[in-house]
Amino acid sequence: MSNSTRVLSCIQPTGDVHLGNYLGALQNWVRGQHECDAFHGIVDLHSLTVTEEPGIVGETTLSLAAMLFAVGLDPDDATVFAQSHVAEHSQLAWIMQCNVAYGELSRMTQFKDKSVKRDGQFISAGLFTYPTLMAADILLYDTNHVPVGNDQHQHIEITRDIAIRFNRRFGETFVLPEAVTPAAGARVMSLQDPTSKMSKSEDSGAGCVYIVDEPAAVMKKFKRAVTDSDTGPDAVRYDRAAKPGVANLLEIHAAVTGRTPEAVADDYEQYGALKVATGEAVVATLDPIRIRYIELMDDRGELARLLRVGAEKARAVASVTLQRVHDAIGMVPA
Ligand code: TRP
Repeated sequence: MSNSTRVLSCIQPTGDVHLGNYLGALQNWVRGQHECDAFHGIVDLHSLTVTEEPGIVGETTLSLAAMLFAVGLDPDDATVFAQSHVAEHSQLAWIMQCNVAYGELSRMTQFKDKSVKRDGQFISAGLFTYPTLMAADILLYDTNHVPVGNDQHQHIEITRDIAIRFNRRFGETFVLPEAVTPAAGARVMSLQDPTSKMSKSEDSGAGCVYIVDEPAAVMKKFKRAVTDSDTGPDAVRYDRAAKPGVANLLEIHAAVTGRTPEAVADDYEQYGALKVATGEAVVATLDPIRIRYIELMDDRGELARLLRVGAEKARAVASVTLQRVHDAIGMVPA
């Protein structure tokens, strides 16, 4: 990968960002902005496929944008934008729809799963054509790499299939993107159930540390973290299989201090001290982010300005690609 490798990651504006999102993904985005040509889309149009109530998507989009800037994405390095601010996404999505077969979309497992789950509820056509909007997101930016988990590989495959078909029909127009495995971040587990991933869908919320949690709340969650009943002199040691709760604390501690879990384990003999120290280390990392996030959420003008910078940079690339597409098809110049 070089500085000219274009990398696109997009996330839907849903829910609050937690420590697992930060250590698992966002931290890598911040590092990546100096290593590649990074584009980050907040894909608000995608979330319309299932958004039920008015007025929510705008707030969640602003909140996620504030979070991305607060964790350290720099508008001069990375291109951070809201999908709906760049009209080319919707425009190219239509053309994508005309270059994919009904049968191909019907075979998408995500559509099958989501439409079954929504049985009896409104199933929008957007849920069905979702992959064509995603193909537009990717192809508009001549994207080389798309870091995604396994659940998204079928979407990248269909994007490539559409691009190949289009290039054959109308001549070389699109760069073929590749799915890449995201740089491995820490795998943060729930503080209450250290065998499952930290997640916002958890019942009580006690196992999930949000970036916007006040320091006192963060400390409370760490003090109550589940460990185990082993009390030997060697109780604090790094052993994921035998001691998942302790291992999770050690990994979190290591991730925020840039050390190894084994080295952290050497410093502690008791669970209580480890919990407090880990909570303090997490607060030291999260607090500046939380403060910057609040500042940005209180300064809507600045937040709008940052998103405008991103939208302009994104549009400059997207408009050229869309024009190339129109020219390849042979549409009447505007
Ligand atoms: N489908 C992706 C998800 O649910 C989100 C997404 C939309 C995306 N457009 C994209 C991801 C373009 C990467 C590139 O996670």
